[in-house]
Amino acid sequence: MTPENYDRNATHRVGGQITRATRTFAANPILDFVPAGGPVQLTRQVVTTASCNQCHDPLALHGGSRVETALCVTCHTSQNIDPETGNTPEFKVMVHKIHRSARLPSVVAGGNYRIVGFNQTVFDWKVTWPQFGSGIGDVRTCTTCHGAPPVGMTAEDYAKLAPDADNYKNKPSAAACGACHDNIDFATGKSTIAGKRDHPGGPQANDSACAVCHVADSGKEFDASVVGAHTIPDRSKQLKGINVEIVRVTSTGPGQFPQVVFTAKDNAGKALLLSEITSLAFNVNGPTTDYQGPPVTESATLSRVAIGADGSFAYTLTRAISVNATGTYAIGMEARRMETIIGNEGASANVSSASYNPVAYIPVTDKVAVPRRQVVATENCNVCHKKIAFHGGGRLNTAGYCELCHNPANVDVPQLVPPTLGGPFTVPPQSINFRFMIHRIHTGEELTRDFTIYRTRGVFNFNEIGFPGDRTNCAKCHVGNSYTLPLPETNANTVAPREFYSPLGPAASACLGCHDLKTAAIHAKTMTTDIGEACANCHGRGKDFDVQKVH
Ligand code: HEC
Ligand code: HEC
Ligand code: HEC
Ligand code: HEC
Ligand code: HEC
Ligand code: HEC
Ligand code: HEC
Ligand code: HEC
Ligand code: HEC
Ligand code: HEC
Repeated sequence: MTPENYDRNATHRVGGQITRATRTFAANPILDFVPAGGPVQLTRQVVTTASCNQCHDPLALHGGSRVETALCVTCHTSQNIDPETGNTPEFKVMVHKIHRSARLPSVVAGGNYRIVGFNQTVFDWKVTWPQFGSGIGDVRTCTTCHGAPPVGMTAEDYAKLAPDADNYKNKPSAAACGACHDNIDFATGKSTIAGKRDHPGGPQANDSACAVCHVADSGKEFDASVVGAHTIPDRSKQLKGINVEIVRVTSTGPGQFPQVVFTAKDNAGKALLLSEITSLAFNVNGPTTDYQGPPVTESATLSRVAIGADGSFAYTLTRAISVNATGTYAIGMEARRMETIIGNEGASANVSSASYNPVAYIPVTDKVAVPRRQVVATENCNVCHKKIAFHGGGRLNTAGYCELCHNPANVDVPQLVPPTLGGPFTVPPQSINFRFMIHRIHTGEELTRDFTIYRTRGVFNFNEIGFPGDRTNCAKCHVGNSYTLPLPETNANTVAPREFYSPLGPAASACLGCHDLKTAAIHAKTMTTDIGEACANCHGRGKDFDVQKVH
């Protein structure tokens, strides 16, 4: 019932929920209107569902019937309160908090972020935002939800769907900002958590002054402006950056010492001086049919880098290609540059920028180099991850570089974990083959068994990972039909001593990454003989249980 005296000139929204086939399909049509008639006075499209669906595949809450953010906001308002916890489900508060939940100041200090939903189901979120800034979990990438068109959408289309996206910087408020900065009590200006600073702007009785000090975008970095305050140090505009590219590699035969000729440029395309490069590393592995075991790794001695007349560089590796090597090999590079920027509160900070990892394919006994097959694309990973930068930040290329090490014969090292980290462990080693490990990591909380990688620098468990996507959408990560069977004949078996059987055949190593049940392993092992796997007979392209059909 509408109250008698409601404001007939205010803009209203009506939203519908229509489902078919037991909520397999859902639509939420939305209409904004003014009851008194005339055009809509006020728009409120701060976010759009397509931004959420970069990760959520798709966003579907409340049993799958609610799928549009424009509908969510009609109920998730500041008038509501979760009776059990006292938390507000107001959309901007709840969505901010959920995605920073593992790093919220209150949670880090030992608290929790909960909402008790229908049927008394307790939601106790500890979400790590999958985007990389200063490491994984950096929510300063505000524009993923606000302002930047989602991957695949034009700026014009986005502007129509989210005309108010800039509110994220134009409308600071205690509710929206305080959702993430939850240690600040704006009424008193004090931090509620000891050791964290009080609000430098002092107490704020209401939101009227926020935008006076927190202007949208001053153009400066690390100041109090909303955009400036959320500058991610290693994306700072002050950084000149480093980008290396391999021009050619010579002396690539068995027993030879490869010489790599490469260029190094800053983000503006200007050639760098050798003195501007902080570190270089090379990884060599082969054959490209499928790498086997650890690569040959070399951290370059910078004094051995030769400078060419055209400003390019040349480096001769100190370890030769094996005399027994055959086929094509790969050389991948890492390059870093340490720069000083003016960071928080005017203090100078050292920031290391890293190049995308170029990989060059070199013929050893092949006449012409045969590149390794490409299976996934870094851009696909980065729709969710923004900018994968692993192992200290220097490894960015997931489409051909990680694979140099994360290959069928490489395993983790439980027995080498030092006592300070709880080691050594006696469990058998686990495969770190990319097709096995990445499938398993993203299955995360859906796994039925433990998945832990033991390193000399720590123990990494992945059973808590919540994947917002749909794992049966293989193309979310894969290129072309790289996920279908049969696989190339030359793919190698995967050493996986911690699994039910080892080695795993090439297809089994991929499929059992997600299907970790013993019954699936029994089925796969049954379908494997000493002359290979039979999988493609039934799961091959066009067959009855084609990978594309069953998913
Ligand atoms: C960069 C990736 C990413 C984007 C973009 C994103 N989310 Fe999420 N979201 C996640 C992850 C990861 C989780 C945790 C998933 C899990 O634990 O199952 C999550 C969880 C949630 C949850 C809790 C779901 C539940 O059942 O517990 C809600 C609600 C949610 N997101 C809403 C949104 C909305 C609304 C948007 C857009 C405004 C959005 N998300 C954008 C990554 C993302
Ligand atoms: C018709 C009203 C309504 C709509 C529309 C609605 N919600 Fe809710 N939602 C609620 C109520 C009521 C609760 C329970 C709050 C509580 O108990 O504290 C809730 C709870 C939640 C929770 C907490 C955990 C749970 O699942 O119970 C999440 C997450 C959530 N909603 C997300 C969304 C998202 C995302 C949308 C839009 C796609 C949405 N809701 C649309 C009314 C709605
Ligand atoms: C996971 C998605 C997500 C991310 C990341 C995110 N926001 Fe939001 N933000 C939302 C949602 C959802 C709303 C509520 C939209 C609505 O009410 O229509 C919102 C609302 C806001 C509002 C209120 C705007 C208004 O009209 O009142 C501000 C301010 C804001 N966000 C700032 C930020 C800032 C600053 C960052 C980065 C540090 C950020 N947000 C990151 C999802 C996100
Ligand atoms: C989605 C979460 C999120 C939202 C929303 C958000 N921030 Fe932040 N903000 C961060 C994170 C993360 C940092 C980095 C420092 C940290 O980890 O606490 C940060 C840093 C800052 C800083 C720099 C000082 C510092 O603590 O390093 C300021 C100032 C700031 N935010 C102001 C705001 C204002 C004003 C708003 C509202 C317009 C806002 N924030 C909204 C997550 C958020
Ligand atoms: C008189 C100026 C002033 C006003 C008004 C003001 N602030 Fe601030 N605020 C600051 C300054 C200065 C900082 C520190 C900026 C920095 O670290 O670069 C700050 C920091 C913050 C931070 C980051 C806190 C942290 O933990 O690091 C948040 C969030 C914030 N303000 C939100 C708000 C909100 C919301 C309002 C309105 C209710 C508001 N501010 C009003 C000056 C102000
Ligand atoms: C649909 C979104 C999505 C896509 C696409 C995606 N990931 Fe992830 N990934 C996640 C989420 C969510 C996590 C969990 C983050 C957390 O909890 O630490 C994660 C975690 C990871 C981790 C472990 C991070 C850690 O905390 O140690 C790695 C490695 C990883 N992803 C690599 C990849 C690679 C490589 C690709 C592309 C082939 C990819 N991801 C594609 C969402 C995605
Ligand atoms: C030079 C070799 C090398 C490269 C290149 C490499 N890794 Fe690793 N990575 C390893 C080894 C070896 C282990 C595990 C065992 C150990 O540390 O001995 C590992 C472990 C991991 C783990 C599990 C433990 C953890 O730290 O979370 C993840 C996730 C991971 N790597 C992701 C990646 C991604 C993503 C890339 C590419 C962007 C990559 N790695 C590139 C050698 C490498
Ligand atoms: C989160 C990202 C992600 C998703 C989703 C994903 N994969 Fe993969 N997949 C990978 C990665 C990473 C590799 C190894 C890439 C490489 O070796 O270059 C891989 C490799 C494979 C391979 C081996 C290909 C080869 O030539 O070695 C198969 C088969 C495969 N995946 C099947 C699937 C199927 C089927 C699905 C969907 C049900 C799927 N994948 C979904 C990331 C993903
Ligand atoms: C990225 C994860 C992933 C990979 C890789 C993957 N699957 Fe699946 N698969 C799933 C999910 C999720 C389902 C849906 C049912 C479920 O939850 O188990 C599924 C369902 C199936 C089904 C339907 C039967 C059932 O269990 O419901 C078959 C058959 C199947 N997969 C075969 C394969 C084969 C063969 C491969 C290797 C080529 C493979 N899968 C690789 C995630 C994966
Ligand atoms: C003679 C036909 C046949 C062969 C050969 C075959 N499969 Fe299957 N596979 C099936 C059928 C049938 C199912 C069940 C399909 C369903 O439930 O939709 C299945 C299911 C699966 C599943 C899903 C299992 C689960 O627990 O959910 C995986 C994974 C799988 N197969 C992998 C493989 C692998 C790996 C190989 C080769 C080593 C292989 N299959 C060989 C017929 C076959």
